[in-house]
Amino acid sequence: MADVRAIDELDDAVWSRVDDLLGSMTLAEKAGQLTQLFYFGALAELADGALPSPAEVEASLAAGTAGALLFVSDPARINRLQRVALDHGRHGIPLLFGFDVIHGLRTMLPVPIAMAASWDPDTIQRAQAVAAREARAVGIHWTFAPMVDIARDPRWGRIVEGAGEDPYLGAAVAAAQVRGFQGHALGSPEHIVAGPKHFAGYGAATGGRDYEEVNLSDAEFWNVYLPPFRAAIEAGAGNVMTAYMDFNGIPATGNRWLLADVLRGDLGFDGFLVSDANAVQNLTTHGFAADSVDAAARALAAGVDLEMAVADPTYAHLPEAVANGAVPEEDLDRCVRRILELKVRLGLFDDPYVDEDAARTVLTDPAHREIARVTAQRSAVLLRNEGDLLPLDIEALKSVAVVGPLADSPRDTLGPWVFDADLDETVTVVDGLRARLGDAVDVRYAPGIRPAQRSFGSIFDIWPGNVPADPENFADHTEFARAVEVARDANVAIVVLGEWQHMIGEMASRSSLDFPGRQLELLQAVVATGTPVVLLVMNGRPLDLRWAAEHVPAILDIWYPGSQGGTAIADLLLGDVSPGGKLPFTWPRTVGQVPMIYSHTTSHDPANQGQRYWDEASTPLFPFGFGLSYATFAYSDLALDRDRLRVGETLTVSVTVTNASSAAGDEVVQLYVHQRYGTASRPVRELKGFRRVALAPRESQTIEFALGPAELRYWNAAARDFVLDAATFDVYVGGDSTAALTSSFSTSHAR
Ligand code: BGC
Repeated sequence: MADVRAIDELDDAVWSRVDDLLGSMTLAEKAGQLTQLFYFGALAELADGALPSPAEVEASLAAGTAGALLFVSDPARINRLQRVALDHGRHGIPLLFGFDVIHGLRTMLPVPIAMAASWDPDTIQRAQAVAAREARAVGIHWTFAPMVDIARDPRWGRIVEGAGEDPYLGAAVAAAQVRGFQGHALGSPEHIVAGPKHFAGYGAATGGRDYEEVNLSDAEFWNVYLPPFRAAIEAGAGNVMTAYMDFNGIPATGNRWLLADVLRGDLGFDGFLVSDANAVQNLTTHGFAADSVDAAARALAAGVDLEMAVADPTYAHLPEAVANGAVPEEDLDRCVRRILELKVRLGLFDDPYVDEDAARTVLTDPAHREIARVTAQRSAVLLRNEGDLLPLDIEALKSVAVVGPLADSPRDTLGPWVFDADLDETVTVVDGLRARLGDAVDVRYAPGIRPAQRSFGSIFDIWPGNVPADPENFADHTEFARAVEVARDANVAIVVLGEWQHMIGEMASRSSLDFPGRQLELLQAVVATGTPVVLLVMNGRPLDLRWAAEHVPAILDIWYPGSQGGTAIADLLLGDVSPGGKLPFTWPRTVGQVPMIYSHTTSHDPANQGQRYWDEASTPLFPFGFGLSYATFAYSDLALDRDRLRVGETLTVSVTVTNASSAAGDEVVQLYVHQRYGTASRPVRELKGFRRVALAPRESQTIEFALGPAELRYWNAAARDFVLDAATFDVYVGGDSTAALTSSFSTSHAR
């Protein structure tokens, strides 16, 4: 009872404060509370007037025409801007600071797709709690993360920000991130508001081209694209961000059905909804809204509480929309109340400033580096290990060659969406190996080729260091030959290849999955020396590994592993820990196969399913869920506690997994279900359970999974609703999506 009363009292206090403020605000000031502006600081000067200057933004704060900012992460500046709003604004309403804290602030964690590859929600939660702690310490209240968009087309650059192709894994990763960022409740100390994005379907961009239209069937929408959002909202996410593109012909940011009926209705979201940057103004670009007044009115009517804008906010036109009757003032007030309530609940009215000294201590907390290291270890995926080349035998090593420009590039080691990391403390692969191997082993680094340059005209290009510099006096021919010689003379060659970080992410879609530049040629030349080669792939999307998968004995996917990447990679290469990550997407052979997913349905001539092209197999290079270990695992004793049940009941599946080797290692036990028949055709397999377990040599563990209505229901296009069919189901359990161990059960309707 005591708790309930405390919450009620807080609610009363919140509401009376909010009501007092609302009663004294002009329409323009209300619109200001619904406006979030970018603050680019000194970078605005580099942009030649294309971005608003700091003085212009500060003028908006003083005038009360903006109530939230983004892109500020310096605690002193945050305090200064907060002071402008509090001392010069008419109502003393504190600012809300949001930022893209996607995978860390100062301590960079592996990129999100890498964290998803850990298949380890606890680690992901712990990692994002570090990100939250650093962000909150500098004065950031809210992150535009997690990105929970399902991505099935690796040409789309933002695949790196999500959890891959699968709704079940995606939902688990989404919920873990929300818990990590936000803590147990909105306003938890050392945590920030989580904002899953982009609602919804953004990852299904036509052709993988960022921002392009999305046309999704209802079944795909409900069964594939929505589950991660549902999970994030159930985990308590306080915010959601809209998406840029047309969704089935209606712009997502003005899509009343999507935002009001589905998000607020079906998913029960009761937090605040922010537009993606400039997406409200874009409603005119789409050819949807007639003008800015119409755009503002329609975004607000659809449910967008807060507009994020680079400049010239469209919501500044809301007073006109109220005046012309397009927006009832109660609707405007409802949105303003949501924003003010949030500011009260976050404690910003009582405690708006941050402690700049304390921030410094938090940002340098060694415990954060340790979590980044463990997260990077747990994210790596071992794709090939012929002849047990890995782990390397340190006793037998005298010299190691490290080849490829990505091997010693701090900026690329961190991946995209990095603004505040300390590059000097970033551990590259070269640094990590040197530190781990000490003086006993000669570690020789040769880039071999110059970094693949290319600026895409993206906003991120103006950040210093984001596009690699062209090294001066780089003699291409000599450097290539030198790298090959260094490899020839070594006991083992570690070749690090992939995409430079600016080649993936927002506005970084590709029409090819090849290694950019001369990287494949370099790999081929190194392999030709006869020195055993370990290929480390630095990536956020699958790349064309057809040649490597035939000719390179060991391939480890290290993703963009973050601040402690090199340390973690050395730990893995030397066998201090065994790789245990698994692919969160199907790895195609070639770009011509995409999109390619494991959970497809079957149809005419299934025997030919692997040969749907005449010029290439239509099977992947590596299946979803795949990843090797230094240990080997055996599965046995798959048992169902019953094989007949009523629709709506739950059964328990158990299986024993044994480490059949003398190396310790982690296995991700995966459970897949296939419904054999029903009122719709269902995918050949769907992930419905997983557990990452650590197994000592020869150790066995029995794992249990529940299968009930939550796992077996699906949205059916004929019923236009979720259904549970009476049917026979196959269950598969194993270490990837091709798992062979199987059993079955049947459900029937109660008579
Ligand atoms: C992206 C969002 C991001 C926002 C603010 C947009 O272009 O689509 O994901 O949060 O910018 O940086």
